[in-house]
Amino acid sequence: MDNYNDPWDKIRWHNEEHFSIDEVGFNLVSWGSPKKKTTENNFVLVKDPSFAKSMARICAPLTPKNIIEFGLYHGASLVLLDKIFTPDSIIGIDERQEHPALSQYRKGSSAHSVIEPYCGVKQDHTDKLIQILESHFPKKNVDLIIDDCSHLYEPTKAAFLTSFPYLKSGGIYIIEDWGWAHWPGEFQKKEFFPGTPLSKLVFELLMLQSVIPNVIAKIETDYNHVAITKGEESSPNNRKLFELIKCKTSIHIEKQ
Ligand SMILES: C[S@@+](CC[C@H](N)C(=O)[O-])C[C@H]1O[C@@H](n2cnc3c(N)ncnc32)[C@H](O)[C@@H]1O
Repeated sequence: MDNYNDPWDKIRWHNEEHFSIDEVGFNLVSWGSPKKKTTENNFVLVKDPSFAKSMARICAPLTPKNIIEFGLYHGASLVLLDKIFTPDSIIGIDERQEHPALSQYRKGSSAHSVIEPYCGVKQDHTDKLIQILESHFPKKNVDLIIDDCSHLYEPTKAAFLTSFPYLKSGGIYIIEDWGWAHWPGEFQKKEFFPGTPLSKLVFELLMLQSVIPNVIAKIETDYNHVAITKGEESSPNNRKLFELIKCKTSIHIEKQ
């Protein structure tokens, strides 16, 4: 078996929009680009070509064994996580039905992990999510959670509140495409994503970090991702976490 210092070095790029790992091909598409088809061992992956370097940097401290992903589309990202990290277990959540190519891959002999997609489940279906997470991770030992799902403020926040407690200390929670409200061009003209910008959640997380010590150890952002590293403490009351934020919008300085 090949040895890689960085697991992301397993990727073989053929051009900007196409790479492969072992027998599986990945065809990159971006938001609003023409549709491509997923076929057996040849998956459409909804990512910008810069995602891999960014993921390699964010995930460098981890050797993830237990992974959760929100937002599967055709399942390419689950297959990619399986190939890159060869973890023990990957749980996927999506409101859409499972693509046959994912089903074929995860039931076949080349899948490394136990990959379980929960299809027909919304990311803000809190009771169902708790049931799934408790059944897989009662020890709250998840290493990596990736949210590439609705990208909407309310459901993304709901999924964070429910699943962040299942991360272990030092584990990382990644939210993709957090900056859509600020993307130029088409994204400014039409309501690609409706409602509250997802960046509001990023600011709230920053504020939260200053209100309660040791629950969030670190927050870092780049073009693609916001990555929240879990601290050593679990939060006092997760449902009410965001109510702890004390929000002054200006600071009044008395003249001497
Ligand atoms: C951008 S695609 C995921 C792409 C995939 N991670 C990849 O890299 O190829 C977003 C997915 O989120 C799902 N989704 C959107 N809103 C959702 C919600 N509220 N609950 C569950 N799934 C949702 C969609 O069905 C879609 O499959």
